[in-house]
Amino acid sequence: MKEIVHEMISEEKVEARIRQMAEQLNQDYAGKTLHMIGILRGSVIFYSQLAKSITVPVTMDFMTTSSYGESTISSGLEVRKDLDEDIDGRHVLIVEDIIDSGNTLSMVRRMLEARNPASLRICTLLDKPDRRETPVEVEYTGFEIPDKFVVGYGLDYAQRYRNLPYLGEIEIVEE
Ligand code: IMP
Ligand code: MG
Repeated sequence: MKEIVHEMISEEKVEARIRQMAEQLNQDYAGKTLHMIGILRGSVIFYSQLAKSITVPVTMDFMTTSSYGESTISSGLEVRKDLDEDIDGRHVLIVEDIIDSGNTLSMVRRMLEARNPASLRICTLLDKPDRRETPVEVEYTGFEIPDKFVVGYGLDYAQRYRNLPYLGEIEIVEE
């Protein structure tokens, strides 16, 4: 088995879109402090690039979750690393790499809403709407993409390719 990565969205294009997203956030959060919560590990490169173009005051925190398979929503979310700080009264922006089934983010959203933030929104670099199983409200989306497996810009295939500076579609070929 061999993997071939085909470029899907160039570094220039992805970073131009991230700057647009940051400009939108700067408008929407004017006069507020934005508490950016990154979902590890896939969001790290998007998160960093986005944060660099944000001009309103920012604070940062991270969490790691994993979902157990496709089991029922209520039993589904495992928090492997919780937030370091309380979010009570803060303007929370969840930053994610990609929304696929929607299972993870719908649970994260519900869990964090229960902690009484002043506001809570979701910002994702990518969305594969065709794959949705659980509806989730997403306020900021970089790109909607077709149902393909993508790597790069933080996204992995078996933990590799996260450092690719562009977004690629992975093709597995038999040798
Ligand atoms: P879901 O929305 O609960 O299905 O989970 C989304 C998570 O699955 C993302 O945070 C990624 O970690 C992973 N994922 C989904 N699609 C892809 C992909 O195309 N490439 C890499 N990771 C993906
Ligand atoms: Mg993820």
